[in-house]
Amino acid sequence: MTDSTTRSYPLFSEQNSAEAVNARIGPNVAPRTAQVAAAVVRHLHAAVKEIEPTHEEWLAAIRFLTETGQKCTDWRQEFILLSDVLGVSMLVDAINHRRPGNATENTILGPFFVDGVPTLPAGANICLDGKGEPLVVSGTVSDTEGRPVAGATIDVWQTNDDGYYDVQQKGVQPEGNLRGKFESGAQGEFWFRTVRPRDYPIPDDGPVGKLLATLGRHPNRAAHIHFMIRAPGYETVITHIFSPDCPYLAEDTVFGVKESLIGEFEKVDDAREGKIYGYEGPFWKTARSFVLERSEN
Ligand code: BEZ
Ligand code: FE
Repeated sequence: MTDSTTRSYPLFSEQNSAEAVNARIGPNVAPRTAQVAAAVVRHLHAAVKEIEPTHEEWLAAIRFLTETGQKCTDWRQEFILLSDVLGVSMLVDAINHRRPGNATENTILGPFFVDGVPTLPAGANICLDGKGEPLVVSGTVSDTEGRPVAGATIDVWQTNDDGYYDVQQKGVQPEGNLRGKFESGAQGEFWFRTVRPRDYPIPDDGPVGKLLATLGRHPNRAAHIHFMIRAPGYETVITHIFSPDCPYLAEDTVFGVKESLIGEFEKVDDAREGKIYGYEGPFWKTARSFVLERSEN
């Protein structure tokens, strides 16, 4: 016996369009699925009623979504990029990471994280191509009560000074350039050497790039270093340090900038201090404390 013999549905009209569609959701559908489907239909129909698209405009939207799907490969996720530039990725992240006051805030993961890179010794230089201004990053990992978290893993990754991640330029950049994993010491401390991050465009040679241009938006991310901090018993933190003088801080194309994540960079022009870090000329320093929230399970 089909539903249609046992249930009656309203006929479709312009006025009741969303209700007519949602009335067809079956009685045995999982409640969360039914809730999500109904909300999407309600908001989609409300948008269509506000926009009143022509048939040609509706087809253009279908073409855009088709091209977005066609652009996806094992290496390229154009739908996530779309979610990023529409602010949806950051909104989902905010909803899922409402942290206590002093815990480090999350920001966008992005597509260039590589899991399982080798752990490097404290102080290692992750810049393997020699481009860019030297930067020493140091800091601590602690819990929300200020107790050090020893043995946390700290994954870091950033673009090179040309604005590309190593995985975007296989065979051009040294493998593993500007990425690495470190472990916090007994007092939660860590440090490594790198170069100052720079602003760079997200991949914009696809439909999302075209959309940005159509909307009069640039594709640039504010200069940042990515971090992922993991420790057993704590919520994983996925975050950035942003360069404080980047012109794109207020207009990061994926809305990733939060005030608390903007770093302080100090220029050091002191040969004796440079010698400690193995630098011959001036360099930069930045320090960052990461505060982890205990996980519930
Ligand atoms: C990134 O920061 O690596 C990134 C984030 C979102 C989209 C593209 C790149
Ligand atoms: Fe990035």
